[in-house]
Amino acid sequence: MQSIFVPMISSQNTSIKLNTASMESSRIAQPIGIALDRFIKNNQDEFAFASGELSQLLRDIALASKVVNREINKAGLIDIMGGMGSQNNTGDDQQKLDVLANIRFTRALAKGGEACALISEENESYTDLNNDGKYVIAIDPLDGSSNIDVNVSIGTIFSIYRRKTKVGTPISEEDILQKGSEQVAAGYILYGSSTMLVYTTGHGVNCFTYEPSLGEYFLSKDRLMMPEKGKIYSINEGSANSFPDNVKAYVQFCKDNQYTARYIGSLVADFHRNMLKGGIYIYPSTAKDPNGKLRLMYECNALAFVAEQAGGLATDGQKRILDIQPTSLHQRVPFYVGSKNMVEKAVSY
Ligand code: AHG
Ligand code: MN
Ligand code: MN
Repeated sequence: MQSIFVPMISSQNTSIKLNTASMESSRIAQPIGIALDRFIKNNQDEFAFASGELSQLLRDIALASKVVNREINKAGLIDIMGGMGSQNNTGDDQQKLDVLANIRFTRALAKGGEACALISEENESYTDLNNDGKYVIAIDPLDGSSNIDVNVSIGTIFSIYRRKTKVGTPISEEDILQKGSEQVAAGYILYGSSTMLVYTTGHGVNCFTYEPSLGEYFLSKDRLMMPEKGKIYSINEGSANSFPDNVKAYVQFCKDNQYTARYIGSLVADFHRNMLKGGIYIYPSTAKDPNGKLRLMYECNALAFVAEQAGGLATDGQKRILDIQPTSLHQRVPFYVGSKNMVEKAVSY
């Protein structure tokens, strides 16, 4: 198989200085094709707490995603598809791959000792990891899992926080229920026509594409920015009858202006497309889900952080997503995320 990248193999720091006049900070840009490990190493001093532990967590997430990617790719070949016949704590059908992905990410994050607690869609309560760990992780191990059986893109979403309490002491609620604005890193993996890792540490958004024959992620976009304007709206219109009137009015505005409707039903995939092409994703309150369907702590916060870092916006219709104080692990919020002008327009309704 021909590689889409020419991997950078060098013992030297391969950073090049780009013209950063149009960028908000003067951080050294990285050449396309640089491997993830080297990118993380080159940018380690961007992290607020440059001890190397956060870098290790990102590597662990990348490693787990490779294992999950392999299992997803095998899904069509072996008897791994279909439901487990059980439900997770929020009532969704649990897929075998949901469970597998949860195990893979939990193991990867537990083994290094950097994380003290893990919040996962698949676990009712948080998991205690290592009291000496400094970081709290929230994950949706497999997002869009109803799409597995039909060979449609799915994802993983993650948020990383610093713990608030002293290292070495038991975890407390203030470590777990942190606002999205406290995230030190967040991102997603998209298992699509290619597998991509997209993340931010608060210094722009980095995109990596997985090269399966080399087993490595390579930088495919440095400092990805979302178009300010867009013409794609993504919303499950099957529930339109029970949308709030202002959402109905905004959807009508999109139609009146001949916007394009695109809805995959995998949040990560819908979000990623809108990141690249410009668009808005909305999961509003509906009669069935009065607070929307999406979960603040392991779906919305991470994507809100990425969106803002790419110049976009994320709100629940009233409030910036990153400013919402969570009150429970599996809390749901209405979610409007995407290109700045489109989110502003939707909120003006
Ligand atoms: P998950 O598979 O993690 O439970 O998430 C499913 C979510 C999200 O990926 C998607 O955007 C949304 O559910 C789709 O919901 P509807 O089918 O109600 O549109
Ligand atoms: Mn999800
Ligand atoms: Mn999920």
